Amino acid sequence: MCAAARVRPFGIPRAKVEGEDSLTSPYITDSIVEGAVGLVIVNTQKASNAMTVSLFSEVAHHPTSLWVSIARKTYTHELIEQVGRFSVIILHRNQKDTALACGLKSGREFDKCAYLDLYPGPAGFLFLGDGMASTACSVRQSLPVGDHTLFIADILESRMNSRRSHLRQLLLSDL
Ligand SMILES: Cc1cc2nc3c(=O)[nH]c(=O)nc-3n(C[C@H](O)[C@H](O)[C@H](O)COP(=O)(O)O)c2cc1C
Repeated sequence: MCAAARVRPFGIPRAKVEGEDSLTSPYITDSIVEGAVGLVIVNTQKASNAMTVSLFSEVAHHPTSLWVSIARKTYTHELIEQVGRFSVIILHRNQKDTALACGLKSGREFDKCAYLDLYPGPAGFLFLGDGMASTACSVRQSLPVGDHTLFIADILESRMNSRRSHLRQLLLSDL
């Protein structure tokens, strides 16, 4: 095995070891734009689930809103459609393991939240204790785009983790 020297389009370096296919995802290998990596967490009366996301960004500051693109086949998509709300966690550079644990297997197979340091906010949104920032979001609009849905959501509440402010965000090129 040798470290792959491939560089992805737009210069995102690929630090994968060839042969470790089980530890990769098209969201890592096929992305054309460098970006932050986070979690989308959905909490319903019956279930909670966390998935890794990289297709997300802010929409506007007035209204304070963001978008996230979620594959329709995922458990997360099913749960967001049920409750119309979710939280987005911004991960820091030392949370690669969390990103891979929540991004390579579905919550339909096992309870990913059981392994995360989650706590509920007053409105019932789940936040990650060790994340850089957590936001509570309510879906304003859903737009189908191929096999994904673009959820545009109002940000209801945000929490910054001052204990992690010295770290930078986890990026796709870290994975
Ligand atoms: C780094 C990374 C980024 C990802 N970004 C997204 C994304 O933005 N949208 C998406 O639908 N899936 C994304 N995925 C894939 C989901 O995290 C993955 O399909 C997950 O298993 C879905 O979990 P669920 O079925 O429990 O919802 C990403 C995976 C990784 C590893």
